[in-house]
Amino acid sequence: MASSRCGSVSLLVSVFLAITTLALGGNFYEDFDNLFGDVRVDIKDAGQSMTLTMDQYSGSGIVSKNEYLFGRFDMQIKLVPGNSAGTVTAFYLSSQGENHDEIDIEFLGNLTGDPYLLSTNIYANGVGGREMQYYLWFDPTEDFHTYSIDWNPNRIIILVDDIPIRVMLNRASIGVAFPTSRPMRLYTTLWNGDSWATRWGAVKLDLSNAPFVASFKNFNANACVANQGGARCKRFNGGKSSILGQESKKKMQGVLSKWVVYDYCRDLRRYAHGLPYECRKENQFDQFQ
Ligand SMILES: *[C@@H]1O[C@H](CO)[C@@H](O)[C@H](O)[C@H]1NC(C)=O
Repeated sequence: MASSRCGSVSLLVSVFLAITTLALGGNFYEDFDNLFGDVRVDIKDAGQSMTLTMDQYSGSGIVSKNEYLFGRFDMQIKLVPGNSAGTVTAFYLSSQGENHDEIDIEFLGNLTGDPYLLSTNIYANGVGGREMQYYLWFDPTEDFHTYSIDWNPNRIIILVDDIPIRVMLNRASIGVAFPTSRPMRLYTTLWNGDSWATRWGAVKLDLSNAPFVASFKNFNANACVANQGGARCKRFNGGKSSILGQESKKKMQGVLSKWVVYDYCRDLRRYAHGLPYECRKENQFDQFQ
C-alpha cells in the first residue's frame, strides 16, 4: 500500500517535470515568432528591445514560441506618440481553439492631447465581456512603463508599474469560469482598430501620421511552459503570494477610485437582464483579500 502510493507520487512528479519547465527572463529573438507585418517587427539590442510599426499597408505583431500555463509576464512599453487615434497596441495571453481563454491589456490611441484608454478584458471558457477600462496617471507615450499580467490558479492580477489595477479571483467554486486548463501564448501587436477603438469608432486612423511606432523592451517571463496541450502546472504561484499586501491594496484602491472609466460590473444598461454572475453582490468576494 505504502509503496504503491509512493510510486504514484514519484510518477506524478516525473510527469510534472516532463510536461512543464520554468521559463525565466526573456528575449524577443528567442521567445517569439513573427505573427504579421514582416519587417515592421524590428528587434534590436540582441533581442532586448523591439519596435512594432503600422503603416498604410499593415500593422505588426509577434507571438510567443511557447505556450504557457500560468506565469508572470512583464513588458515595458512606450506607446505611439502624437495622433494615435484608431491604433490599438495590445499585450495579451490567449489560448487557441473553441471556448478559449484570454487575458488582455489593450491601449486605445487618441488624438494628440487626448488620453489613451487602457482596456482590460478576461475571457474564460469562451466568455468575455469583462471589460475594465482606465485612464493612466502619466503620459504613456513619453517614457517606458511596465505592464504585467500575473496569472496563477488562484487569481489573475493586471499591473501597471507594479501597481495592481485589476484582480480576478478564481471563483470556480461558485460556478464562475476561470482559466486554469488551456495553455496560452503571449502576443504583442499593433493594429488598426479604428472601427471601434477611439470614441467608439468615431475617430479614424489618420494615415498622414503614419508610420505609427510603439516601442517595447525588457520582456520578462517567470512562467510555466506547457510542452503538451492541457498540461498542468499547479505549482506555479507567480513567485509571489496569491494575496495582495497592504501597500498594494492601498495603491489599487487609489487607482480604482480615480482612474476607472468603465467597469462591466456597473454596466446596468448592457446587462439590463442581470449582471454577470461574478458581479452580483452576493457573489462579490472582497477583491482585496
Ligand atoms: C479619447 O479622448 C476622449 C476625450 O477626452 C475620451 O472621451 C476618450 O475616452 C479617449 N479615448 C478613446 C479611446 O476614445
